[in-house]
Amino acid sequence: MSDVLEEAIARDESYMMRTYARNRVMFVRGQGMRLFDDDGREYLDFVSGIGVVNLGHAHPSVADAVCRQMSRLVHVSNLYYVEHRDELAQRLVGLFGESARVFFCNSGAEAVEAAIKLARRWGRTTRGEGCATIVAAEGSFHGRTIAALSATGQPSKQEAFRPLVPGFTHVPLNDIEALERAMTDDVCAVLLEPIQGEGGVYPCTDAYLEAARRLCDERGALLMLDEVQTGFWRTGQAFAHQGYGIVPDVMMLAKAIANGLPMGALLAKEEVAAVFTPGDHGSTFGGGPAICAAAVATIDALEAEHLGENAENVGAYLRSGLHTIAEETGAFTDVRGCGLMVGVTLAKPEARRVTDESLARGVVINAIGDSTLRFLPPLVCTASEVDTLLTVLREVTGE
Ligand SMILES: Cc1ncc(COP(=O)(O)O)c(C=O)c1O
Repeated sequence: MSDVLEEAIARDESYMMRTYARNRVMFVRGQGMRLFDDDGREYLDFVSGIGVVNLGHAHPSVADAVCRQMSRLVHVSNLYYVEHRDELAQRLVGLFGESARVFFCNSGAEAVEAAIKLARRWGRTTRGEGCATIVAAEGSFHGRTIAALSATGQPSKQEAFRPLVPGFTHVPLNDIEALERAMTDDVCAVLLEPIQGEGGVYPCTDAYLEAARRLCDERGALLMLDEVQTGFWRTGQAFAHQGYGIVPDVMMLAKAIANGLPMGALLAKEEVAAVFTPGDHGSTFGGGPAICAAAVATIDALEAEHLGENAENVGAYLRSGLHTIAEETGAFTDVRGCGLMVGVTLAKPEARRVTDESLARGVVINAIGDSTLRFLPPLVCTASEVDTLLTVLREVTGE
């Protein structure tokens, strides 16, 4: 271990709150799919932050856009017009493909918080004060702030922080009858990830999302999709719901939106967004000109480089390679996902060992719990980089 890393670990352990169990590596540089540590050692990044750097590390057009804006104007507040914000909103609505409006914040959890407030305001306005319950899925993840955590369907993450925000019910994913039963008169919205990410890469079935759309229409509730992890061509389409052929009323975005700089966004169809009036919600930093310049440059490059198409093709190649390993070695009992959002269940509960040994061989992957591996590489990932991953996985899962 280098002196620099040793010092960093010592200071981190003395001064940082213990909210993360970190790997003992310090990354100092990135380029596309590659990361470099402080010793100059090269790694292939199959996590992208956690589904953040969709364009790859250190993309020059994002760096240029941010540098240009940083030397002109960084911040004035949302009480004034600034460059790039309106353009970014127009781009997002264009990608969404319906008449909609946007609110900018700084993270996924904040986008979820904004969605919860919007849904409650909308329920109260259209159907009366008691209409404030949000139905979410068991196993879901919507963030760490207290209302987003209350929406999250993972009791292990919630227990220490009770009492939670009231007004959330949870139903098993892909169980249409359970969803139907949960749609009582006080439900203002259904909140779902099209593919559960932190929960272990579990997609909604087509029939489930279609039923959720129909039930929301019948009961006058909003369908709100958390696309924080699935957005920006991660699954092939600009947003994962576009692969399902349904349109949500509300959508949350963050992670890849500015290729690594912190930003979140809430989109809502025009008539839903209309229930927010000045003073209802806000954010000091949300929608600043530098971050919006980064996001516009990110979207431009993701489109220009056809990375959605690449995510589909290379994602299919990755899943097929993982299936082959599963058949030949029995190391995986399940392979799932869409585009370059892929998960496997390990036959043995050794996810930590497998990620550690992969890292030691220069491949960065992510463990969820004891038995799930998740792969979320930058969308610039190539088939030959997938081959390297597959070789390493064979080595580290072999007897
Ligand atoms: C689907 C989903 N929603 C919300 C969040 C929270 O985002 P953030 O960590 O930016 O607050 C995450 C983070 O992993 C997520 O995957």
